[in-house]
Amino acid sequence: MRRTPTLALISVMILALGAIGIAAVVAWQFIAGSRMVDPPGRGGFTAAVKIGGPFKLVSHRGEKVSDETYRGRFLLVYFGYAYCPDVCPTELANMAAAIDYMGEAASAIQPLFITVDPERDSPSLMANYVAQFHPAMVGLTGTNQEIADIAKRYRVFYRKVKDESFNEYIMDHSNFIYLIGPNGEFLSMFRGGTDPAVMVKVINKYVENHAAGA
Ligand code: NI
Repeated sequence: MRRTPTLALISVMILALGAIGIAAVVAWQFIAGSRMVDPPGRGGFTAAVKIGGPFKLVSHRGEKVSDETYRGRFLLVYFGYAYCPDVCPTELANMAAAIDYMGEAASAIQPLFITVDPERDSPSLMANYVAQFHPAMVGLTGTNQEIADIAKRYRVFYRKVKDESFNEYIMDHSNFIYLIGPNGEFLSMFRGGTDPAVMVKVINKYVENHAAGA
């Protein structure tokens, strides 16, 4: 009769250890999963891979620029192309709306439109294009290689597509808006179609934290 409670106790302990193990795995997954959520606010999300980094491009004013040109400012970055029939105009309008919602705080933000179609998007064409969206917006272009390099750093997908319904080719491209911090660090990204008001909440948290020295 003495062995039975001992066996029962061992069984309970094994079950308890199992439960603790499962709880630990669930907790770890929760913590790991929560890293995918933007800490300062819902709406943006962070990435499991490194995003962003150095670049050398040409602005729509014909000036050579690099990531260092924009140190000290937050960047709102979108990749697309001026001939885009649908998605790009919507996202650039959303970016412009977000900047306008921010009021005075918008002075901390530099919106950038980076082309994935450098063969057609010359600086002068970009100048006309970005002016349609926001006076603060800067269009960036470069050589095929320079664009390929920055697209790789931002994990941006793009490819040329022949479309029968258009005379010229179109570009397939990924559709995210990236928030980069004043030291060139990736902070957050927004899926295409994110409400500008949601973007503003996330951006403001980062801008406020930065102003507070966080
Ligand atoms: Ni587009």
